[in-house]
Amino acid sequence: MMFDEFEKIGIIPVVVLDKPEDAKPLAKVLCEGGLPCAEVTFRTAAAEESIKIMAKEFPNMLVGAGTVLTPEQVDRAVTAGAKFIVSPGLNPKVVKHCLDKNIPVTPGTQTPSEMEQALELGLKVVKFFPAEPAGGLNMIKAVAAPYVDLKFIPTGGISAKNVRDYLGFKKILACGGSWMVKKDLVNEGKWDELLKLVKEAAEIVKEVRG
Ligand code: 3PG
Repeated sequence: MMFDEFEKIGIIPVVVLDKPEDAKPLAKVLCEGGLPCAEVTFRTAAAEESIKIMAKEFPNMLVGAGTVLTPEQVDRAVTAGAKFIVSPGLNPKVVKHCLDKNIPVTPGTQTPSEMEQALELGLKVVKFFPAEPAGGLNMIKAVAAPYVDLKFIPTGGISAKNVRDYLGFKKILACGGSWMVKKDLVNEGKWDELLKLVKEAAEIVKEVRG
């Protein structure tokens, strides 16, 4: 089950790729570094092709699509090989389309009303976005109390400095973040530096979750 894999990996790297040719070396870094997962965001023209490359070259890697705003993008992502869909907000059309296609989806939520909407749509896991500006771990702790079965993937403003605290709270399935796949480092092809950041992040997951 997809969500068990998220929990095991602990951190979902949020990737923004400008060039599809960076997809393979970045996927290699992620797999070697211990975070065999990528949310490839539909913010750049390279997203679809990058998902295709990662899914083909690293079949055991958990490759999904992020910043998915329309049902049409869901279809394109799935055709490219995406195994999960993430969106910044909760668009019922996008969520229903994913559920119809049997593809795991984690829409962004921030308020109790949005979380209840997610529950009503049948979801058990939501993204909490943007995590730090929206109140961070304290907010998740407060809001998680009434929704006993709901798990969270906080994303936005998370870094090696604060990820430990998030991972230590049991309602948090995994954290999303871009700090270990920094766009500038990817664009400059600094794979060794990226590998160090990915390993450091994977190490934190081990430290906190064993
Ligand atoms: C994003 O929208 O780019 C993701 O939420 C990642 O946020 P981050 O760059 O703060 O990790």
